Amino acid sequence: MPSIELRNITKKFGDFVAVDNLTLDIKDGDFITLLGPSGCGKTTTLRQIAGLEMPSSGEILIDGKIVFSSEKSIDVAPKDRGVGFLFQNYALWPHMTVYKNIAFGLENLKWNKADIDKRVKELLKLLKIEEFPDRYPAELSGGQQQRVAIARTLATNPRVLLMDEPLSNLDAKLRMEMRAELKRLHHETGATFVYVTHDQLEAMTLATKICLLDRGYLQQYDPPLTVYNRPRNKFVADFVGNPTMNLISFKGERKDEHTCVLTCKDMKLEFTTADVLPAELDEVTIGVRPENVLVTEKDGIEVRVDTSLPSGMETILNLKAGEDVMLSCVMIGSVDYPSDSIINIVFKEDHVLLFDGKGDFAASGSVRFI
Ligand SMILES: Nc1ncnc2c1ncn2[C@@H]1O[C@H](COP(=O)(O)OP(=O)(O)O)[C@@H](O)[C@H]1O
Ligand SMILES: [Mg+2]
Repeated sequence: MPSIELRNITKKFGDFVAVDNLTLDIKDGDFITLLGPSGCGKTTTLRQIAGLEMPSSGEILIDGKIVFSSEKSIDVAPKDRGVGFLFQNYALWPHMTVYKNIAFGLENLKWNKADIDKRVKELLKLLKIEEFPDRYPAELSGGQQQRVAIARTLATNPRVLLMDEPLSNLDAKLRMEMRAELKRLHHETGATFVYVTHDQLEAMTLATKICLLDRGYLQQYDPPLTVYNRPRNKFVADFVGNPTMNLISFKGERKDEHTCVLTCKDMKLEFTTADVLPAELDEVTIGVRPENVLVTEKDGIEVRVDTSLPSGMETILNLKAGEDVMLSCVMIGSVDYPSDSIINIVFKEDHVLLFDGKGDFAASGSVRFI
């Protein structure tokens, strides 16, 4: 299965830069998610790989072959790129049965009847829709229709599968099921998947690597857990994770290369790290994931419980430290602290991130409240 390479891809619509100098190396058999807020350039990126949108400049290679190059004036037609697409509005042909919907593309390619029949049956089985080859789309549930759409896309054995928010029309439960299906499908087909979503949870759970974009710029391209644990900047830190990461601004004072004292109103702490601290610590930000805010009996700092939101499996606590620093904390299980009760918290050792004045990741370490 092929790799996909984007080299310095820029896409302008008039003066507006939708994708800005994007370089991306997608390995053979990867499951990449293009993630980011609405309008960040995900769909445009996907459509350029597909050949449906022409980059303003740059180069795209699929399987080592140039399919687009502004310099060499190469632009391979979508149908010759060996890619399959699945879009949000995956309209099935309403007047055709499930069987016919899947077979149609193969008939167009002049496959013989026996081969078509074999392939359609394989796909019906793969997508677990063997029971209804004779039904029409209107007689299927949303999830079943989506499976037919996937089968139709896979029919010609595309080496690359490009998907643009294919699950966004489904309800929450079905979406979860289909995510698991897509992961299985990726495993079974061994194809290279590029999947667009604005849902960070979907991106986290599906991808071998997340490509996070903001306003056309690449923010981070790493495996999900690296993005989660070592976000490259505050934007990434804030975009991934729910509840979002606690980000608190501090004024820092360096003690040595690995230690500094941080102050924020009435909160004062010592930050230690194995990384080398940046020279400038005037306006830094501390980032702590809610699950790394730990309730303890002693040590730490006293905080006031603002609200406690138990949901059965976990409880989200909104906490107020001092006058106006709000923190969220996630605890496994049901704990119910009354509003306004006072509890002690610490930040999990080695799980505190420090961002510099520009908002870029600078160090990861531990804090001690002083
Ligand atoms: N055909 C177009 N003409 C002008 N602007 C466009 C066109 N297509 C997309 N854009 C703009 O480019 C930006 C990125 O769009 P898109 O890739 O669809 O974002 P996403 O899929 O991340 O929501 C948006 O600001 C959008 O308005
Ligand atoms: Mg889009």
